[in-house]
Amino acid sequence: MNVIEALNSRHSTRAFLPKPVGKEELLAVLEAAVRAPSWANSQPWEVFVAMGDTLESIKKGYKQKYADKAVAAPETPRPANWSEAAIRHQKQLHPDMVRDCGDVVEQFGALNQSMFNAPAVIYICMDKVLSEWSMYDIGAYAQSIMLAAIERGLSTVPAITLMLYPDVLRRELKIPDNLQLTIGIAIGYADKENKINSFISSRSPIDETVRFFE
Ligand SMILES: Cc1cc2nc3c(=O)[nH]c(=O)nc-3n(C[C@H](O)[C@H](O)[C@H](O)COP(=O)(O)O)c2cc1C
Repeated sequence: MNVIEALNSRHSTRAFLPKPVGKEELLAVLEAAVRAPSWANSQPWEVFVAMGDTLESIKKGYKQKYADKAVAAPETPRPANWSEAAIRHQKQLHPDMVRDCGDVVEQFGALNQSMFNAPAVIYICMDKVLSEWSMYDIGAYAQSIMLAAIERGLSTVPAITLMLYPDVLRRELKIPDNLQLTIGIAIGYADKENKINSFISSRSPIDETVRFFE
């Protein structure tokens, strides 16, 4: 598979098979991803992988939070306002999903709440003293993980819903206070029978976002 093929075949997987992912598989993916660029090679990523009983405890903790209607408090705040362009792009997501997946889209919230039934979640943290530049590095690292995963037959979804309750994550993953939770990536084998995974989100025409000056 070449790079363009990998870029084209990555998409968010929102339903995983119960099949576990081996630690060696995950290590191979994470080892490939450290080739991501970072400011002055600062490599800000600190990774906590939740699997097995630990992930089950996190899922249980989240289930309780949802039952209690606990206030979500992701450590990477949501923007106060979205740009007009972002709103325009976002608006297409739900109608496109309904078009491609029909009623299955109703499972979207439940799948998010059950952490997509993933057998493993990669949580990426960075030191709180770092700036937005390091968040840029984290993004490059996250995409590298998601592309390297494809090479090994694994699927992924990066999700804010995996990050909603940091107290649960900090307790179960023993995350030190100096680190900020940035993003979680659920990883595993895609449930190809679930129609929600057949959804390929659209992209706006390239001339809406790219300007050439010659
Ligand atoms: C920072 C970030 C947060 C996201 N949060 C969620 C989420 O909470 N739930 C979800 O189902 N998808 C989530 N996604 C996946 C996006 O919806 C998805 O990447 C986008 O719609 C484009 O689709 P694609 O990944 O299939 O190409 C998130 C993606 C990113 C990068």
